[in-house]
Amino acid sequence: MDAIVLLKDDHKTVEELFKKFENAGERAYKEKQRIVEQIIHELTTHAYIEEEIFYPAARAAVPETEDHVLESVEEHHVVVWMLSELRKLEPEDERYDAKVTVLIENVRHHVEEEEQEWFPKVRESLGRNRLRELGEQMEKAKAEAPADPLAVSSARQ
Ligand SMILES: [Fe+2]
Ligand SMILES: [Fe+2]
Repeated sequence: MDAIVLLKDDHKTVEELFKKFENAGERAYKEKQRIVEQIIHELTTHAYIEEEIFYPAARAAVPETEDHVLESVEEHHVVVWMLSELRKLEPEDERYDAKVTVLIENVRHHVEEEEQEWFPKVRESLGRNRLRELGEQMEKAKAEAPADPLAVSSARQ
């Protein structure tokens, strides 16, 4: 699969989970916790494959978007720390919805920048064959992604 198509599919999956969370009842604690567990899994895996495979490849291929990649890693840093906090927070906690809401805002902003400003340039520079190669690598790497958000490399940067 094409790397950018794969990443956009992930973004869609996460956006659907965000909508589910937003539509869940205020007191639907169990449901909200289940959704958040899925969000943690999806975003940790996604950040991992981007950081291990896609970001370095794109940075090398399109040096003029290097600043974008560096900002993206900083944004991942914030997201994975928020994910790790959410893992420990009870859904009944008064900060739970607030933390998820800010997480969602951060990720939506991040995804929009990736998709609108960055992916088109990367697609042009990398070309179809290289993107397919990276897509295959990322599909395989998903199986090796850590469960712990803080095991993703941006957590330590
Ligand atoms: Fe990203
Ligand atoms: Fe992404």
